[in-house]
Amino acid sequence: MTTAIAHANIALVKYWGKADTQTNAPAVGSLSLTLSKLWTRTTVNFRGPQKADRFYLNDRQVAPHERDRLTQFIDEVRRRSGIGRFCEVRSINSFPTAAGLASSASGYAALAMAAMHAAGKPLPPEKLSSLARLGSGSAARSIHGGFAELPAGGGGQASGAIQIADKDFWPLAVLVAITDGNPKKISSRDAMEITQRHSPYYSAWVDSSVQDLEFMRAAVLQRDFDAMGALAEHSALKMHGLIMSTRPGLIYWNPGTVAVMQEVLKLRQGGVGAYFTIDAGPQVKVLCRPHDRSVVAERLLALPEIHDLTICAPGPSAHIVEET
Ligand code: PMV
Repeated sequence: MTTAIAHANIALVKYWGKADTQTNAPAVGSLSLTLSKLWTRTTVNFRGPQKADRFYLNDRQVAPHERDRLTQFIDEVRRRSGIGRFCEVRSINSFPTAAGLASSASGYAALAMAAMHAAGKPLPPEKLSSLARLGSGSAARSIHGGFAELPAGGGGQASGAIQIADKDFWPLAVLVAITDGNPKKISSRDAMEITQRHSPYYSAWVDSSVQDLEFMRAAVLQRDFDAMGALAEHSALKMHGLIMSTRPGLIYWNPGTVAVMQEVLKLRQGGVGAYFTIDAGPQVKVLCRPHDRSVVAERLLALPEIHDLTICAPGPSAHIVEET
């Protein structure tokens, strides 16, 4: 029995679109920052069930469609490790599940690590990352702490993410503003497929992401806060513009999402370095320097649309916390 913790990550250059749906090979490269306070803790036990795998999230059995996806993932773990047994998987999230807060990223990263350990075949981070990618593209990045890059492509031979810089490289604050704690209505997997098929902007998105990734890598390595923040905001808005341009158009935002974006612009006009980014959900993450986090938090908490605010620092790599 093994327990692992993996942290969620926020993409500074977004992954949206697949080169291969079977293996989650991304159509575009992405670069992310792992977050300290959003994590999944997962225990895998191959000595429990006799007849079928069992999956629990926050002490509840998971829904059938999620169970099928998880079983497929565990089948891959069985194939790679040679273990023939069924398993029980118990996960706890430190944050609302499937509300656009990267629960699949931390979830599949923790599961990949705990399951391979429990099956007696621990893997090095790069291999673990390519396994996690089969569960969810963004999970490949959550194996690493700090800043991670997942290259485009990779086809059948899933390539994993690599670490660009560790969590201590650049102290930053990320304020996670919750505007709605309910699960999102359309998964990123389905939305990506619709976008690829129906947005007239899709090829422009793919083409422009090559330069975004290069510029972001340079901005991070130079610790250039304004270059990083401005490009993170651009990548998020470009992704949402793309998502809105599908048929039917998809809108993940709510009035609270827009209120936070506008407050961030006002903060900048007032001389406070703050930039927003948004994944496939209504929550907004605001990036700032650590010494500005209290003033940013105060301004965001004053908005009536904000339900909750979590202040994160760069988070650590996925790690084992218990083994018996
Ligand atoms: O890997 P998925 O299916 O959770 O998709 C992630 C998509 C975004 O969160 C919107 C962007 C990203 O790069 O994390």
